[in-house]
Amino acid sequence: MVSLTINGLQYAVDAEPETPLLFVLRDTLGLTGTKYGCGIAQCGACTVHLDGQATRSCQVPLESVGTQAVTTIEAIEQDAIGRKVVEAWVALQVPQCGYCQSGQVMAAAALLKQTPRPTDGDIADAMTNLCRCGTYNAIAAAVRQAAA
Ligand code: FES
Ligand code: FES
Repeated sequence: MVSLTINGLQYAVDAEPETPLLFVLRDTLGLTGTKYGCGIAQCGACTVHLDGQATRSCQVPLESVGTQAVTTIEAIEQDAIGRKVVEAWVALQVPQCGYCQSGQVMAAAALLKQTPRPTDGDIADAMTNLCRCGTYNAIAAAVRQAAA
């Protein structure tokens, strides 16, 4: 059994130590807001926070999580910055198909926690998640609005 702290709750998970955190979130715990895209840490669809840091959970083995607090999209609005990000996303109607957007929101919230007033360069450097619908301009605008 592996102990995890996810969205402020304690879980004991019966899984192999090398199981990707993403699979545990989605398949074991039913937290399906975090998406599977590439599986090789390239697209960012699976982004969660580990102790506030944006992390691609498809390449995080369960055994490496340890005592780090996991936050997923399901709980991001419990955080004041996360709530501002979601409000900006809704106000600017950022999503198109929506598949990448939970990862985008998690990446944006992590950015604004570390850099409350990001420059356009900061946003470009931090927001590296892929979006097949090409919502990049709307994402950048929503990050700026959330920061304002
Ligand atoms: S599914 Fe994890 S980065 Fe693509
Ligand atoms: S909104 Fe469709 S992939 Fe980003």
